[in-house]
Amino acid sequence: MNYPDKTKRRLSQAMAVSPIMGLLSHSPLAQIQQQTIIAFGSCLHQDKEQPIWEAVLQQNPQLFIFLGDNIYGDSDDPQVLAAKYAQLAQKPGFQALRQSTEVAAIWDDHDFGANDVGKEFPIKEASRELMLSFWNEPADSERWSRPDGIYTAFMFGEAGRRVQVILLDLRWNRTSLNMVANEAEWREREDADMGPYKPVQDADAVMLGEDQWQWLAGELAKPADVRVIGSSIQMIADFTGWESWANFPHERERLLKLLSEYQDAPYVIISGDTHWCELSRLEHPDLHQPLVELTSSGLTEIWEKISPNQHRASSAHAVQNFGLIKIDWQENGPAITLQARDVNGDVLITYDYPG
Ligand SMILES: [Fe+2]
Repeated sequence: MNYPDKTKRRLSQAMAVSPIMGLLSHSPLAQIQQQTIIAFGSCLHQDKEQPIWEAVLQQNPQLFIFLGDNIYGDSDDPQVLAAKYAQLAQKPGFQALRQSTEVAAIWDDHDFGANDVGKEFPIKEASRELMLSFWNEPADSERWSRPDGIYTAFMFGEAGRRVQVILLDLRWNRTSLNMVANEAEWREREDADMGPYKPVQDADAVMLGEDQWQWLAGELAKPADVRVIGSSIQMIADFTGWESWANFPHERERLLKLLSEYQDAPYVIISGDTHWCELSRLEHPDLHQPLVELTSSGLTEIWEKISPNQHRASSAHAVQNFGLIKIDWQENGPAITLQARDVNGDVLITYDYPG
């Protein structure tokens, strides 16, 4: 890919490294890199063994992004959530990651506090306090005080090699899901390996909320060389009946339209939640290049009944896995490889962007 004009313009801009959660003083994000390696994952149960960390650390990522369900909190009692975060903090592999690697995190339903829950969750503020404390969010971060959630973005790397990471909050403002009405319909769904939800056709249904939409547009307007968008649930995968953007078709289309307005840098979409890994690819009339999404789930959790997905462009694997984004900064632009790897570090999925 070639962005000569943009690269020239960016070379004249000052290098900027934004602080992210608990920035380590020796942060590799602050160093000039020929290759940027970001690892990510989701669905990490605090009660279980977590052998995946050894394989993650072998990849020497400069950043690990936790995409949600980072604990299975599942409680509206803050003390219970706190105890589960404390359990995660005791895991040796997790401790090794925290000591060596920069991390960033967004939540999904289970660490927000309840299965598939949205704006109605009663202890959002308490959950936010616990979440941001656990992940060492800097005291001056807006995430502590935004009235509508913990979405965040940051940029790292020198001019010409800038990676922007955008993490959306898909819980704080999300309006109700639409569940199938009767048992017969539910059984039909089960037989097809699909979940219980139907698309919400109401144009007022909300995933992000207006303020988050405006914020996202502002972030996309900032110059970057690669944009990584983290969505705790699947964004471009086909409708599965489980939680995904496909349940909110108006919001999904709005997102695709917004992305089409900012096509100066390649997009890498990453997601979690499913308990299997797969890569989805979508061609959209407004996008110059196909949109590619790597779903990695779970770090501990597995769901064998993989749903159909007409946008799937890889094999799908119901095994413990993590995701990798490798960016080689070549003279004519970034060469991006997306991978999902298993607990032994073996490659399950590999995809050269844009493919
Ligand atoms: Fe989830």
